[in-house]
Amino acid sequence: MRSIELDPNLSRYASRTRGMRASEIRALFAVATRPEIVSLAGGMPFTEALDYTAVGEVTAGVIADSGPTALQYGGGQGLPALRERLVDVMAAEGVPASPDDLVVTTGGQQAIDLIGKLFCDPGDVVLAEGPSYVGAIGAFAAYQAEMVHVPMDAQGLIPAALAERLDALAATQRRAKFLYTVPNHQNPAGVSLSLARRREVLEIAYRHDLLVIEDNPYGLLDFKAEVRPPLRALAPDRVLYVGTLSKIFSPGIRVGWVAAPEPIRDKLVLLKEAADLCQSNLTQYVAERWLGTQPWLRQVDAYRQVYRERCEALLGELGAELPPGCSWSEPTGGFFVWLRLPAGLDSGELLAKALRARVAYVPGRAFYADGSGAQELRLSFCFPPPERIREGVRRLAEVLHGEVELVRALYGDA
Ligand SMILES: Cc1ncc(COP(=O)(O)O)c(C=O)c1O
Repeated sequence: MRSIELDPNLSRYASRTRGMRASEIRALFAVATRPEIVSLAGGMPFTEALDYTAVGEVTAGVIADSGPTALQYGGGQGLPALRERLVDVMAAEGVPASPDDLVVTTGGQQAIDLIGKLFCDPGDVVLAEGPSYVGAIGAFAAYQAEMVHVPMDAQGLIPAALAERLDALAATQRRAKFLYTVPNHQNPAGVSLSLARRREVLEIAYRHDLLVIEDNPYGLLDFKAEVRPPLRALAPDRVLYVGTLSKIFSPGIRVGWVAAPEPIRDKLVLLKEAADLCQSNLTQYVAERWLGTQPWLRQVDAYRQVYRERCEALLGELGAELPPGCSWSEPTGGFFVWLRLPAGLDSGELLAKALRARVAYVPGRAFYADGSGAQELRLSFCFPPPERIREGVRRLAEVLHGEVELVRALYGDA
């Protein structure tokens, strides 16, 4: 008997798999997790900041009190009691919602995937910040959508550029299916959309009848605990809101959600059931009990302190060590700093040298669907302790100084 031919070029595979490639982040993981390497690459939450005794008690309590149901199948929309708690989480950011609006998903990532599945036909255009979240680029690419980027600056996505993109699409009889945006402490750029721009973006969305997907994993992780009104709070009828407990509790429990108007919500429930029948009931019970019995906002505060200290360590060392010509974002929350290299340097080409110098980052190209980003890279400060972060920056700085010297020797100062 002949075994199945697995040549990737064969027509056996669906055409949507053709553009699929391992994300640069995943490819990096194997190397970056070696102990001698300071990884400023991955975006893993620092779950050691959790109170494990409390998590243990919560989990044991779920089994003791609700074992038979928690270990059973659940409904496609998600546990009603959990949806009530998730409404509290949204309220902490000033977003009114009803438990009925929500669909619980396997992290925010599945919400993004289901949204892609719901709206995107092959060739459809979706708009997103440039750079954008790798997981969204991959999810929408799997539905063969074309991602068109909208540039950002220190105030986040640039509304005039969004309007320009929409006009250009209209001029060719095309329209965007939606705008996917991360307005708070964006991954990877580490910037937040200003309040004035939030209003402008929504005004443009209304004018162009554009649906907005707001992905908000980092909103509560503002270093000063400031809350910027989410787009959903400003325009509930125009915005699908994606939330997650990954960054404020645990990514391991895989609880995320979408808040959507009723007709869209119903379709999302059908897609969710088709994908995996229902969310893990066990982790929904754990999440519900965590939010219901524990001082979860105090935990968010603990995370905030950890990340603020790490971010300060990173920014301080970048300022002290990097060669002239580098520039970077100055986050006020979240996990990431976006670094722009001096002209002539390519973050993808430099990665091997950086790894030899025992520091890892993610090259900028991973965050664009159109191949740009060569001169940029992402540094994350969420996982290593401050001293390791400083050491990582010193290692990176040495590589960059060497490269700048080389470029100068080859091409002069011009
Ligand atoms: C912007 C953004 N959206 C969504 C996610 C997905 O997170 P999860 O699926 O763990 O909720 C992440 C994770 O890094 C993210 O950065």
